[in-house]
Amino acid sequence: MNLKNRNFITLLDFTPEEITYLITLSEKLKKEKYEGKSHKVLSDKNVVFLFQKDSTRTRCAFEVGAMDLGMGTTYLGPNGSQMNKKESVKDTARVLGRMYDGIEFRGYKQLHVEQLGQYAGVPVWNGLTDVYHPTQILADFLTIKEIFGYLKGIKFTYVGDSRNNMGNSLMIGSAKLGLNFTGVAPKELWPDQELIDVCLEIAKETGATINFTEDKFLGTKDVDVIYTDVWVSMGEPKEVWNTRLAQLSPYQVDTEMMNNAKDTAIFMHCLPAFHGKDTDMGKDISSNFGTKFPKVANGEMEVTDEVLESKQSVVFQEAENRMHTIKAVMLATLSDTYE
Ligand code: CP
Ligand code: NVA
Repeated sequence: MNLKNRNFITLLDFTPEEITYLITLSEKLKKEKYEGKSHKVLSDKNVVFLFQKDSTRTRCAFEVGAMDLGMGTTYLGPNGSQMNKKESVKDTARVLGRMYDGIEFRGYKQLHVEQLGQYAGVPVWNGLTDVYHPTQILADFLTIKEIFGYLKGIKFTYVGDSRNNMGNSLMIGSAKLGLNFTGVAPKELWPDQELIDVCLEIAKETGATINFTEDKFLGTKDVDVIYTDVWVSMGEPKEVWNTRLAQLSPYQVDTEMMNNAKDTAIFMHCLPAFHGKDTDMGKDISSNFGTKFPKVANGEMEVTDEVLESKQSVVFQEAENRMHTIKAVMLATLSDTYE
């Protein structure tokens, strides 16, 4: 397997074998890190991280992953570069591609990460757009594999905004690796039919199943994994909160829902999560909407504190795995096969 010079923009561009290879490479890098074995094999390279949106996990995973590989790094935040203000994304790509060996982009438009990929001449990695979040899926699937030992045939249910970057990417990843994916949400929050059809075609080859339902008990009955994400994503206007709370507060992941899954089921979330009043936004939403939507009165939104803090919750293992998997993506696309 050789992925050198490839972009990592959407999982749709990768075969099941290539995705599996990236997960296997992540396992190897994680083991080496735990054993204290250094892997600074890219010390002649430098990479740049472009962030138009906030981040904790993704930014730190790229930074630590790159440092572990021996690379030099530059972080450019929302106000740190000329990109898309005084300079087009295409020109930015051609400038950065002459200085750096790889470029990470987190932002709004999928078009922008694609333009970077088209014009930079070096590997471009998608650290989240409005449409996709592919590096997150590698971490999620590594976590599932660590816990269950396999991925094919896992009963995976995503509850919430199924047409956001996480819903789209988890469906694609499930189709590629043969999971039984169910999306649970009101119909208006299901992905574009066109993307569902693409995934159904992939599923025919891999044995995956792709289903959607509005019925949260049907959709979570005897499943292995219940996954959720925030109800309003970065970049969406504040005005959508009222509608989204009406649509999704009935779908809050609580203990009753977890009890409907298998006894061995796990809870997953890409994080950050609203599971209490410990955040400014959690406080804000609960004070503005708590009367109308009692479920969010104490700052718990997509998941209750009880579930997030339960033994079934694997969210921090999942968060750690962002680093091992992102490191694998950088290593695989910047070098020949790593032994
Ligand atoms: N899961 C994730 O992408 O987290 P950050 O927004 O903190 O990067
Ligand atoms: N859907 C979320 C994912 C965060 C990792 C967002 O885009 O804000």
